[in-house]
Amino acid sequence: MNDFVNNIKPSVRAISAYHLNGKQYEVKLNQNENPYDLPKWLKDELLDEFCGFAWNRYPSFGNLRLIEKLSSHVQIEPNRILVGNGSNELLQTLMAVSLSAGKKLLLVAPTFLIYHQLGRVAEADICEIEFEEDWSFPVNKILSTLGQEQIELCIFCSPNSPTGATLKESDLIQILKRVKGLVLVDEAYHEFSKTSCLELQSDFKNLIITRTFSKAMGLAGLRIGYLIAHPALITEINKARLPYNLNIFSEFVALKLLDHYDLVNKNVEKILSEKERLTRELFELNNVTPLPSEANFFMIKTPTRAPELFDKLADKGVLVRDISKYHPRLKNHLRISIGTPEENENLINSLKTTLF
Ligand SMILES: Cc1ncc(COP(=O)(O)O)c(C=O)c1O
Repeated sequence: MNDFVNNIKPSVRAISAYHLNGKQYEVKLNQNENPYDLPKWLKDELLDEFCGFAWNRYPSFGNLRLIEKLSSHVQIEPNRILVGNGSNELLQTLMAVSLSAGKKLLLVAPTFLIYHQLGRVAEADICEIEFEEDWSFPVNKILSTLGQEQIELCIFCSPNSPTGATLKESDLIQILKRVKGLVLVDEAYHEFSKTSCLELQSDFKNLIITRTFSKAMGLAGLRIGYLIAHPALITEINKARLPYNLNIFSEFVALKLLDHYDLVNKNVEKILSEKERLTRELFELNNVTPLPSEANFFMIKTPTRAPELFDKLADKGVLVRDISKYHPRLKNHLRISIGTPEENENLINSLKTTLF
């Protein structure tokens, strides 16, 4: 009956849309956001100034001011940067220029769902390698796959979501020496792990990095991300980027935040110290096992069925992420983002009353 839908690619029809529970909860620990918004004085200052902008005009072509600012912030040349409407958009752009039917995308599973989603839309063959038993990156398996298969794009999320492990520099170097295609390292959480593979780009021209303003930088609502790569790759990826993909408000706030970067550093330290405290307290709960993570979230192994515990926490106004269906090995797992001390306290009390 709905034959017209067959005009959509089979690879797209075969998948479900990315979906998230959109209900509002008092304690929101499900998207690894920064729990701290920008201070009111800065928002007021920004809004005052933004009123003077011409909203009827397109953004400046090529986001040159933001690229210049990021170039001095990250200490790299401006021609190695692309900015986007969230790093998701840049992932999509990269996949649009590097993948097509039959080309191979290597992922380590379980990881950020969007890679899989975008890979399927691009009709790529997805080659999934499982994390090791201890959730470390399966470097030997990756190396042997790279020896046997022609892979166009490898994506490594470091620290990985939802598992929390980082890819060690020495392991990435081995991979980069073996690989013939492109390697993307998603550094969405790098401010928390304080790790980056940026310096390796001078030796490995096929290494691409994406970063975001949505996590440590606390601007998830404004959708800002950037990609760092060799200028020759930037030239090609830029051909598939939509013009004016970053709106004038997002660009303006991103510029201002980079002028007030001390705010980001302070929030990162607060979140990391809360992570330590929350982990300690969860260990004391005995039958909840928090797993090690280098990001602003961690997985817990649940004593009861994960979806049941998720529902009970949600009934108490605490929203975490039910990842139990993301991968067979996550059957008894929930992912929890680090919130403010009050939010974390609320989570602990809710767990106590739910489990005991
Ligand atoms: C690993 C990873 N990469 C990218 C993103 C998306 O970032 P953005 O908000 O910049 O699109 C997320 C968000 O959850 C993420 O977890």
